Amino acid sequence: MTEAAPHAVHLSDYAPYPFVIDGVELTFRLDPGRTRVISRIAFSPNPDGPGHSALQLDGERLKLIWARIDGAPVEPRITPEGLTCDVPTGSFVWEAEVEVDPAANTALEGLYMSNGMYCTQCEAQGFRRITYYPDRPDVMARFEVTIESDAPVRLSNGNPQEPDAQGRARWSDPWPKPAYLFALVAGNLTARSASFTTRSGREVALNVYVRPGDEDRCDYALDALIRSMRWDEEVYGREYDLDVFNIVAVDDFNMGAMENKGLNIFNSKYVLASPQTATDRDYEMIEGIIAHEYFHNWTGNRITCRDWFQLCLKEGLTVFRDQQFTGDMRSAPVKRIEDVLQLRARQFREDAGPLSHPVRPESYIEINNFYTATVYEKGAEVIGMLRRLVGAEAYDKALALYFDRHDGQACTIEDWLKVFEDATGRDLTQFKRWYTQSGTPHLRVLESWEDGTYSLHLQQQTPPTPGQPEKAPQVIPVAVGLLDPGGREVVPTRLLELTQAEQSFSFEGLSDRPVPSLLRGFSAPVVIERASTAQERALLLAHDTDPFNRWEAGRALAKELLVDMISNGTDPGDDYPGALGKVIEDEGLDPAFRALTLALPSEDDIAQTLKTAGITPDPMAVHEALNRLAVACARHLRAPLAALHDALAPNGPYTPDAEAAGRRSLRGAALGLLTRIDDGSRAEAQFAQADNMTEELGALTALLRAGKGHEQLAQFERKWSQDRLVMDKWFSVQVMLAAPREACEIADRLTAHPAFDWKNPNRFRAVLGGLAANHAGFHAPGGAAYALAADWLIRLDPVNPQTTARMSTMFETWRRYDADRQDMMRAALERLAAAPGVSRDTGEMVGRMLG
Ligand code: PHE
Ligand code: ZN
Repeated sequence: MTEAAPHAVHLSDYAPYPFVIDGVELTFRLDPGRTRVISRIAFSPNPDGPGHSALQLDGERLKLIWARIDGAPVEPRITPEGLTCDVPTGSFVWEAEVEVDPAANTALEGLYMSNGMYCTQCEAQGFRRITYYPDRPDVMARFEVTIESDAPVRLSNGNPQEPDAQGRARWSDPWPKPAYLFALVAGNLTARSASFTTRSGREVALNVYVRPGDEDRCDYALDALIRSMRWDEEVYGREYDLDVFNIVAVDDFNMGAMENKGLNIFNSKYVLASPQTATDRDYEMIEGIIAHEYFHNWTGNRITCRDWFQLCLKEGLTVFRDQQFTGDMRSAPVKRIEDVLQLRARQFREDAGPLSHPVRPESYIEINNFYTATVYEKGAEVIGMLRRLVGAEAYDKALALYFDRHDGQACTIEDWLKVFEDATGRDLTQFKRWYTQSGTPHLRVLESWEDGTYSLHLQQQTPPTPGQPEKAPQVIPVAVGLLDPGGREVVPTRLLELTQAEQSFSFEGLSDRPVPSLLRGFSAPVVIERASTAQERALLLAHDTDPFNRWEAGRALAKELLVDMISNGTDPGDDYPGALGKVIEDEGLDPAFRALTLALPSEDDIAQTLKTAGITPDPMAVHEALNRLAVACARHLRAPLAALHDALAPNGPYTPDAEAAGRRSLRGAALGLLTRIDDGSRAEAQFAQADNMTEELGALTALLRAGKGHEQLAQFERKWSQDRLVMDKWFSVQVMLAAPREACEIADRLTAHPAFDWKNPNRFRAVLGGLAANHAGFHAPGGAAYALAADWLIRLDPVNPQTTARMSTMFETWRRYDADRQDMMRAALERLAAAPGVSRDTGEMVGRMLG
């Protein structure tokens, strides 16, 4: 093989494309093995470009049949990455016909087939696998698409047109867009439909297209779409801009979903839901992702990114918007806690390891590797901080200016920040470091108390990250309130703005030394380091007016206790279960909030906490300590937990709303703890009676976690063997919840199961991702799980590089552990790196992880 060494792309190398596109016409002659794509693209010189140059088009895995410029045949110079062709000065028309092979496309980028249906995925650089084109987001054009196929449903972006004389389907998208937003779908699909009237009176047809048989699982997605459309009008003043909005569910998809203009394509697991097959968590994810993709229509599509380094411009903002939406639809405090849990589990983990990178990276080898927790979740946190700093009203004003000033453009983070500077008069030079500096800042808190004055001394410090040994101070918004020793709030929330490496803030006129409630609402994505007593934590858990910090106090108590149990062999004691008891019995608290408080930290979280404290985590000891603590809580709280489980039993048909889901989550948390100490009959009864997947799976997982439930697992398989999405759950829970020393063997056995369709990303993730999510199972002594995971990643890489590269992050924490585990994990990574023909995607990830 003589493949050129993959080269890095740098933000600093950005240059505008020499041409602009006046219009694109595409004709597809669909055929599984031999699809023809005929393109007609009108180019003109870019007035902001470098002047006359040859035409360079991206193109990969294409067979060029012919090409013409202004009607005359040309013979471009072709490489594996694209082509170059001399062109006249001034405007010209490029025409070409290429052949592609959708049936052989297992990478699921470009045009591919899923269950006999044609579909596309073009973000980030999939369009170049469909035809020769300047496949970069700053080249925006109007597309007209014609589809020749006998498929009953043929879709593309924009508004549907009358079929042409040959009966071919035609679509016209009036909004100029980059190629990554192109989409095409054709197949035997059926739709569930509704309509929405925008506030200026545009009638929009809404359709959710699914495989025949799935049509009774679309209602919730349609409803979530309508609520998203209304919310974006009410909260952001954004209206929809086409006559149709189509959503298509596909079973084979690398990611969650994709915001193609007017034709969103979704992983079917984020569309299809019925009470019997989807859990409350599934419903919440569907609502959030439907909203996310819809919101992209303005933040991403109408205003897009100049280049892929600006990915957070659309993703951070759109995640922030979908978080606000879910907070409005459900409980805002509960949503905030869930988001922070997610941020710490994925982004803090990423930022603490070899893959740490800024929210706006400066270079990449494969852009697919930068759809990360840092770009998405930390990118959303940065927007939340900006909103806190300037205030809600100024934020709204800045957003209005952003839409007004940049509609139709491909923008940068500089454009975004300039809007805020112009709207508020603030200088955001230092704030911009949140985009350019990687790593999680640590905030050390020292206090003093004298003559009624309480002072906070804050010190910020960010540990070095790859490529960034030195860190400059960032702007950190720290929301603080003070409680008196009796638990009464004496100073309501005040926003401190930390801008220096070290800074002090005073509160005067207090009669007693207060207890601080720091970083309320998790006002910045940082790690707080403060010596605190269990009494203080218990006081906050019982009395803080900030719900996030109430939960956080309980979490901190649990973590400190676990660290103590692990490093000093101490007993769990009664204080923590006692404090939990007060919360779960408080009828005034939202059941969903109580459920979150009852949940213990994850093993991965404890391992990271130990590492940060300078202790090498032993995964088996972490697992054992968490079990001991759970059992202690269950014993201490047996009576109230049983009472909750009984009282919260379903009292009517299933509804997916937040309130009902909150009651089920508290009931499920109670069952999980009880099943650790009882004979399993309570969970077995729930399993037998359940009429919805939340209760059915909740009972099954409670049993599996307690080492029981084998009969139920078999029953579940028999009942659901024909349902792909439910079977994904069956595959994953038994690996995820297996005892540490059994997990690898179970995963291995499942990969031999006839339904283990390893080329389907959801199924692959269910088993191998499930194994990685079983912390003690993945890190069990001997390293068999590392080896099994590496074997499967090596097998998947040539088939689907993007999913392989994403999943290789299961090894990103390798430096956390003891020398023995480090050796075995490094060996697994080296084996991946040395796999013949390793993909650019996986090669880059493994290279960065090995450092
Ligand atoms: N842009 C998609 C989203 O955020 C994610 C995605 C990226 C999907 C790349 C597919 C490929 O919603
Ligand atoms: Zn997105």
